[in-house]
Amino acid sequence: MTEPAEIEARIPPHVAPRVRSVRFADGVATLVADVSGLDRDAAAALQQEIESAVGAHPAVTEVRVALMADKVNRRIVVVGSGKGGVGKSTLTANLAVALAQAGRKVGVVDADIYGPSQPMLLDAANAKPTARGQQLVPVESPHGVRLLSMGQLVAPGKAIAWRGPMTGGALGQLMDAEWGDVELLLVDLPPGTGDVQLTILQKFKPAGAIVVSTPQDLALIDATRALDLFRQAQVPIIGLVENMAGYVCPHCGEISDPFGEGGVEAAARALGEPFLGRIPLSLAVRIASDAGQPPAAADGAPGEAFIAIAARLGAWLDGARD
Ligand SMILES: Nc1ncnc2c1ncn2[C@@H]1O[C@H](COP(=O)(O)OP(=O)(O)OP(=O)(O)O)[C@@H](O)[C@H]1O
Ligand SMILES: [Mg+2]
Repeated sequence: MTEPAEIEARIPPHVAPRVRSVRFADGVATLVADVSGLDRDAAAALQQEIESAVGAHPAVTEVRVALMADKVNRRIVVVGSGKGGVGKSTLTANLAVALAQAGRKVGVVDADIYGPSQPMLLDAANAKPTARGQQLVPVESPHGVRLLSMGQLVAPGKAIAWRGPMTGGALGQLMDAEWGDVELLLVDLPPGTGDVQLTILQKFKPAGAIVVSTPQDLALIDATRALDLFRQAQVPIIGLVENMAGYVCPHCGEISDPFGEGGVEAAARALGEPFLGRIPLSLAVRIASDAGQPPAAADGAPGEAFIAIAARLGAWLDGARD
């Protein structure tokens, strides 16, 4: 008589650690495999491998493989600002890349329907998301980040015709896409405090929010408005980031302050919120970003500023984990 142990011996050694149980009766081998952390393709490949290895045993007429997985504890973190053009998208892309390089599974949702920028920033402008059943499958950026953008769903120049419900529907498709083992979903919000922001806050309950501002007073007033929106929605504020502080002259390295410096840190203190760090205004950031090469992916000063902020976000995620 064939024992389960004989069946088990057929399982390739690299697969064996994932096999939780083996039963065998009347020619039918029933196995349970743990596919936690694998995406759908990898899980299917694993199943296939078990089926053919076990099915090769002469006593086996049928192989049944049940796949189980721990539910991924996925958290949503939004990056917002009151004002446009302060560097939300740049920060989001660089945080994503830095955290991915630190070994986390990161996805980015570009929720800005009028000015989607993540495909360019993450060097995935030519990749189009596919669909599996009813679900969108995110594209892979060469920087190790998965990505979906409103811009990938809308023909260029057509966004302006979208009505509120369409926007909400598209947003839901991005958020509920097949994110696989992604544990952190960073959402690049459009500027201001409009429909998209409200939908995300109410429907998707982010774990936390990061607010970006430049150091000028006007931008700070807008940032305070964004903070208020998050607070009202009871989304914890992870902290404030100062962007475009102190211009680094590309020729002589001298630092000047077109917008002042330190205003955001002072504002964070006054508002009782954490300050996550400062990113200098630098030509290198703009050029690298436009070329789909986030500074966080390379060595050098601007990259370090982003990586330091990403480390604070990482610490926040670990601390907030229950
Ligand atoms: N620290 C920086 N130094 C130099 N240029 C920067 C810096 N941060 C952002 N930029 C540039 O400023 C422009 C606006 O940045 P970004 O698109 O990230 O802002 P945003 O807040 O997402 O804008 P929007 O409100 O339009 O979505 C981009 O061209 C970007 O490359
Ligand atoms: Mg943007």
